[in-house]
Amino acid sequence: MLKRVLFLTDALCKDCFLIANKFVGNAYSIYYALPEKINNKNHTMFVWEDAGFTCGFLTAYLECGNAYVENLYVDKNCQRRGIGAALIKAYEDVARKNGASSLILQSRNTVQALRFYKKMGFEKIAENMFVGKKL
Ligand SMILES: CC(C)(COP(=O)(O)OP(=O)(O)OC[C@H]1O[C@@H](n2cnc3c(N)ncnc32)[C@H](O)[C@@H]1OP(=O)(O)O)[C@@H](O)C(=O)NCCC(=O)NCCS
Repeated sequence: MLKRVLFLTDALCKDCFLIANKFVGNAYSIYYALPEKINNKNHTMFVWEDAGFTCGFLTAYLECGNAYVENLYVDKNCQRRGIGAALIKAYEDVARKNGASSLILQSRNTVQALRFYKKMGFEKIAENMFVGKKL
């Protein structure tokens, strides 16, 4: 089930850290930054929960008319079930409603991430794996 996070509990913060840490090795920066982001009106966080288990999360923000995805992680055990797609689409709606003209992010340079973003309609817009989508 998709949920917009308005209040970040320590337990949820730890769940998100554990999910991200499996991919990036040292996700402490994500762990320490999340509480501050949730209190910033330009930032948005969505999680996908399944029977009380956190499967994945997205954080993103609006700046100067564009929207930027900072974190998107789906637990390895929950992948290929449409959760990543649901998280991105939910944020696209938020960004569009807030007048953003495009959604931009720096993708990881993995086949998995690049195929995912291509499928979601993103195009490479610069080196260093920046991809974007007109909203
Ligand atoms: C990239 C990621 C967020 C995708 O999440 P997900 O929930 O597995 O993705 P979805 O199930 O919504 O997949 C949507 C589409 O993306 C593509 N896709 C997703 N994972 C893929 C993979 N491993 N190989 C090829 N295509 C893939 C497929 O076209 C898929 O549609 P399909 O299943 O109908 O074929 C997830 O794999 C992840 O967290 N990866 C590690 C962290 C990361 O790379 N984050 C994003 C970059 S910063």
